[in-house]
Amino acid sequence: MTHTSHVRSSAAPDEVLESVLRGLKKPEKELSPVWFYDDHGSYLFDRICELPEYYLTRTELAIMREHAPEMARHIGRGAALVELGSGTSAKTRLLLDHIDMPATYVPVDIAREYLLDAAGAIARDYPELHVIPVNADFSQPFELPIEVARASRCVVYFPGSTLGNFDRAEAASLLSRIRGMIGRHGAALIGIDLRKDAGVLRRAYNDAAGLTAAFNLNALRHLNRKLGADFDLEQFEHAAIWVEDKSRIEMHLISKRDQRVHIGHAEVTIKRGEHIRTEYSHKYTLEDFAELAESAGLRVREVWTDRNRYFSVQLLEPHTFQ
Ligand SMILES: C[S@@+](CC[C@H](N)C(=O)[O-])C[C@H]1O[C@@H](n2cnc3c(N)ncnc32)[C@H](O)[C@@H]1O
Repeated sequence: MTHTSHVRSSAAPDEVLESVLRGLKKPEKELSPVWFYDDHGSYLFDRICELPEYYLTRTELAIMREHAPEMARHIGRGAALVELGSGTSAKTRLLLDHIDMPATYVPVDIAREYLLDAAGAIARDYPELHVIPVNADFSQPFELPIEVARASRCVVYFPGSTLGNFDRAEAASLLSRIRGMIGRHGAALIGIDLRKDAGVLRRAYNDAAGLTAAFNLNALRHLNRKLGADFDLEQFEHAAIWVEDKSRIEMHLISKRDQRVHIGHAEVTIKRGEHIRTEYSHKYTLEDFAELAESAGLRVREVWTDRNRYFSVQLLEPHTFQ
């Protein structure tokens, strides 16, 4: 029963262009973090994950290695696993190795080639599993394959602290959509980065090898390629800023000079020293995250963390009264 099924895609080019321009014309310019991720961006991200300063992946992987059997017991037999922002699906393998007869695996990612490669590799290595990649932007509503509804239970896996990229209101609304996906009997297993010493955080996003800077600048390269923009990458520099009162790292690209950039038929003026914000990375306390989950009708059932309490993997379930 090995098969990698059809890929669905969600993209309306005019809307994409409009939304980029809206962000770049705001008084405080911004770009969606989805622009980091084309195949080159996904490759850079994988290399970032191996950096000594980037504690996130290493710590989450260690938590998964230690607790995957227990997580799998909570997930139960015959479940469908839907992964948001699946990337290489490396962490997922740790779960799949322990889940009792998983029915279907649905990796969802915006980086198409990367998604297909990872899905193909999983299908080869887990021949009993239906693997149905979905090429979609999970921040927008998308359709789940019918096979998910046929499984004993739907479990959304959302590792990598990707939820931290959304501001509080967006994160609450994404959690509500996850609540809708899993229905009354499902669960969500979510990787959440925790608040910690600001020095550790700053180093993680300002690595000595400059890979995070290259990853940040790749958003502009991606815009050049996908939307025919003419950003000169040499004219921007990377900055990662810890914003204490918002409990988040912000990645910015700072313009080195006054410049005009063309995207489609539009022109965007960028002043010297002006910032384009490319990503938020919120760091939660356990209490804060539980409150956020509650606001979306989800209850924290289990929390697994490391000895330093740097990172957490949390199992959420719908409130039974809903
Ligand atoms: C931080 S990486 C995490 C990858 C992997 N899940 C992990 O934990 O190592 C984010 C992944 O999510 C994907 N991604 C980011 N934003 C997305 C979006 N809005 N819709 C779909 N995929 C997205 C990227 O292409 C990338 O593969």
